[in-house]
Amino acid sequence: MQRIKSLSEYFNQYEKSQSDPEGFWAEIAKSFSWIEPWKKVLESDFEKADVKWFIDGKLNITENIFERNLIENKDKTAIIWEPNNPDEDTKKMSYQELYEETCKFSNALKDIGIKKGDRIIIYMPMVPEATIAMLACARVGAVHSVVFAGFSSTSLADRIDDCESKMVITSDGNFRGNKVIPVKSVVDEALEKSNSIEKVIVLKRTNQEVNFVSGRDFWWHELVKDKSSECKAEVMDSEDMLFVLYTSGSTGKPKGVVHTTGGYMVYSAYTFLNVFQYDKDDIYWCTADVGWITGHSYIVYGPLLCGATSLMFEGVPTYPNVSRFWDIVDKHKVNQFYTAPTAIRALQAHGLEPLENNSLDSLKVIGSVGEPINEEAWHWYHDNIGKGNCPLVDTWWQTETGGIMISALAGITPNKPAHASLPLPGIIPVIVDAEGNELSGNNVQGNLFIKSPWPSILRTTYGDHERCINTYFSSYKGMYFTGDGVKRDHDGYLRILGRVDDVMNVSGHRMGTAEVENAINEHSEVIESAVVGYPHDIKGEGIYAFVIINPGSENDNIKNQITDVVRNVIGPIAKPDKIQIVSGLPKTRSGKIMRRILRKVASNDLSNMGDTSTLLNPDIVEEIIQGAIN
Ligand code: WT7
Repeated sequence: MQRIKSLSEYFNQYEKSQSDPEGFWAEIAKSFSWIEPWKKVLESDFEKADVKWFIDGKLNITENIFERNLIENKDKTAIIWEPNNPDEDTKKMSYQELYEETCKFSNALKDIGIKKGDRIIIYMPMVPEATIAMLACARVGAVHSVVFAGFSSTSLADRIDDCESKMVITSDGNFRGNKVIPVKSVVDEALEKSNSIEKVIVLKRTNQEVNFVSGRDFWWHELVKDKSSECKAEVMDSEDMLFVLYTSGSTGKPKGVVHTTGGYMVYSAYTFLNVFQYDKDDIYWCTADVGWITGHSYIVYGPLLCGATSLMFEGVPTYPNVSRFWDIVDKHKVNQFYTAPTAIRALQAHGLEPLENNSLDSLKVIGSVGEPINEEAWHWYHDNIGKGNCPLVDTWWQTETGGIMISALAGITPNKPAHASLPLPGIIPVIVDAEGNELSGNNVQGNLFIKSPWPSILRTTYGDHERCINTYFSSYKGMYFTGDGVKRDHDGYLRILGRVDDVMNVSGHRMGTAEVENAINEHSEVIESAVVGYPHDIKGEGIYAFVIINPGSENDNIKNQITDVVRNVIGPIAKPDKIQIVSGLPKTRSGKIMRRILRKVASNDLSNMGDTSTLLNPDIVEEIIQGAIN
């Protein structure tokens, strides 16, 4: 695969991707190894949310990571693993070692009854075995669904049930900063609430005592003990499911975004190589968790398909102290560093002292993902981490897009603070105003749509194709709706403005307001609640909950209890930052909550409440303002 090397080449490639998209992607896809070539490049019908790439092509994505690369790359380090505790040893795995471990675990999966098409939940810490588990699923044709290990047992059970998973792969516990999290017991709890799981594989990580159900639970190390280090890859169709990944939307229930094999492979590798301008001997580090799409595409698949060295970090940026990220960069001489604005802002708050003993001079490229990066954080990151001479790639994309859609190419596209900048080849962003008009030209702002398909667009939402059509392909005929607002500036550079739907972005994590409301409403004293996001210095958006409780049930503890319920139903990442007990919520005559008013109160913007005359209960607005907790 050729890497774009100049701005003029980028414009040429972009032009080619528009005039002949099928020829453009076929050329890139040819650099992969296919068991059988595709018969047709693309079939697409956005109205039915029906997209297929590289039709009838046969392949296995792990053959493209291993067999295709092994001749040159056998001894090259595939994964550098940095443990939570810096006193524990770093682990390095070569491509050959990763291949053998993946094959052994693939054989274990097969022996225990896993077949092509089975769904497997992976609920694990950031250890190489998480990558091995994903790759082994892909090797044998099983569909992985990685669930972030911070989710509660209820969230885990919901995901198990939704995709009717047969197996959970997990660990005894997780080390996270100075905490030890009892992961296996969360899985045990989840299995009491769900029905389809037959087997559980448990990796020993913390060596803590766990409950073990004989016939159901198996130790990882025992299963792989006598397994062969070769395992023939299952022949997959381009459009066979590779994974399901759950993400929040505007309604209460997270949806399982489905990605398939061929298109996802081509796009994740192509974007990795071009955005980060990865060079053969570079050390690349993405700080995400494999539980999110960023971990899938830019810790595991993109880098490994390109034969890169991908660093994996088990811990958190603040343990044992706030220099940890920078210590790791220096220790492993990291060349490309990819993180989220929320981490940057949190570290920025500690000033420059934590950087005093770090040189950071191995860095060539720094990246940002997950939420809009404000200008202050952009400059701090660029000046102090990139030392003013590393290109900063602000990469906009989504779980549903599978790979980076709008971003500078490092060192090629001129940097513009807080702008994701230009679309990647093959991507056609369209800005649409509230009346549904496409806004061409520069200096315009509206909702962001994408015209025409790219190889890693989601194929469906698991088990509910109608939902996929309604959510993404119904707002504007023939276009994919992103849910984000965007501005095209006078130079034609794009700046993402954040979500325009009822989805919050809290520390780079997507969270539906309805999901948090549903959780709050599970408290027995809660009558009704409304949740909105508000600007938060570190998290980007904070969660503000307005809650009506049964008269007389207010006590000192009620807010803590509500917080606990949310933690138990979703997980700590969904805990409200502020809870205001109210006697009513502003509603229209048709009973709809007027969130516009709540958002203004939550963000302490009380200047102009707008028209409240259509409210059923206009007096409530004053009460809510008086009780606001800013
Ligand atoms: C939403 C997708 C894509 C990986 C991580 C998040 C927001 C993502 C940016 C960016 C501004 C961004 C959008 C998007 N977002 N990257 N560079 N600038 N906003 O994936 O959980 O699917 O969330 O994250 O609002 O819609 P996700």
